[in-house]
Amino acid sequence: MAGISVDISGAEGFYSEEMFDEEIRNAQKSLDKLVSHTGEGREFTGWVDLPARYDKDEFERIKQAAARISQDHDALVVIGIGGSYLGARAAIEFLGHSFRNTVAATRPNMPEIFFVGNQISATYMADLIEVLKERDFAINVISKSGTTTEPAIAFRLLKNLLEKKFGVEGAASRIYATTDREKGALKTMADKCGYETFVVPDDIGGRYSVMTAVGLLPIAVSGADIDTLMLGAQTGMNHSVHEKGAHNPALKYAAMRNIFYKKGKTVELFANYEPACHYIAEWWKQLYGESEGKENKGLFPASVDLTTDLHSMGQYIQDGQRIMFETVLNVEHGRHTVRIPKEENDLDGLNYLANKTMGFVNGSAMRGTALAHVDGGVPNIRINIPDMSEMTLGMLFYFFEIACGVSGYMLGVNPFDQPGVESYKKNMFALLGKPGYEELTAELTARLGRAQ
Ligand code: PA5
Repeated sequence: MAGISVDISGAEGFYSEEMFDEEIRNAQKSLDKLVSHTGEGREFTGWVDLPARYDKDEFERIKQAAARISQDHDALVVIGIGGSYLGARAAIEFLGHSFRNTVAATRPNMPEIFFVGNQISATYMADLIEVLKERDFAINVISKSGTTTEPAIAFRLLKNLLEKKFGVEGAASRIYATTDREKGALKTMADKCGYETFVVPDDIGGRYSVMTAVGLLPIAVSGADIDTLMLGAQTGMNHSVHEKGAHNPALKYAAMRNIFYKKGKTVELFANYEPACHYIAEWWKQLYGESEGKENKGLFPASVDLTTDLHSMGQYIQDGQRIMFETVLNVEHGRHTVRIPKEENDLDGLNYLANKTMGFVNGSAMRGTALAHVDGGVPNIRINIPDMSEMTLGMLFYFFEIACGVSGYMLGVNPFDQPGVESYKKNMFALLGKPGYEELTAELTARLGRAQ
């Protein structure tokens, strides 16, 4: 079975063999620390063994809940932010139809899926409520802490809408809460109101949680095969944990990006050539940004959707500050083949591409762009994935997670905390007048020079 491969030929000239060998050895040491759960943040490394030891009873319950939601409701609203949002969205967009909600409206047992609680826009919320008024919908509210402001506000509003439409009991039967096993406001509310609950394990942080109930319930509702997704993660585990040195694709990736960092690159630009990979990039940015961006260290993870962004960001990549390298996600076989037709009069001058596939054109764009960027001083790492299946996605999620844990240890940070995320929350709570923040409210109000 084809797996993930990492091609570093686009980095030639930017490193020596000795340097690469040394970084591979460092990466191997970091991996050993990670899999033996002996490194910093070890209490949040439960995801490392997850593919081999996930809770099979809960997994069955997830599938049953997904089947019920798919049969009984027009739509599922997924409420969550950050690690409680991005993985599910990445998977659903990668695996599903490009126009999923439009198609869902015409097919039985295929609920539309909407995401909310990942920002605080009243415009978005009002528009969503207008759409949902016409639908029989279920909610999957996801929050490990159970207290995050963005999803909490969205949940209150949409729970109210459900209660108005279906009564308190009818609403409760449509709400699924994914949260801490024991504590937090959401868990308390779920127990009191009788919502079905799923668990975010204690030893798995948000950005590493896609293959727990956090990601699995929405992904299963989308119609994707979560058994195969987990099988992919197990296969990924075999490759990314058990293979040694440069044979291990995760170690190769971690070693190479660490070389670029040491050589002075400050930005890792994740480039994809499939619109369905847009949210894979968003998920990847959170994973690497929150794991490595601390103690004034870390590569800044950025992303571009190509070829779209070659017409906006292409100039900078080719010719701006030489601060970046590219990580190109190459999908070897898309889900469909589309051939460019021949036209007798060739008014658009495209007949030189007649009978060629769009995949061939896209691949040529990828190869040509990478070479141009290398010539412009932007080297690359290419990550090849065979296709857009559940199997591949399970492998890919696991590959990026392991490489991220390894990279964080190589950098000398704890890849499993996120102290920086708290600062904005404290200020927001103070400015909103949340009880307990009075002193900070006074301080910030004075700084802003206005009365609250
Ligand atoms: O990675 C993280 O820890 C964060 O992005 C969280 O996932 C995000 O803040 C949501 O937190 P919670 O699930 O507690 O609502």
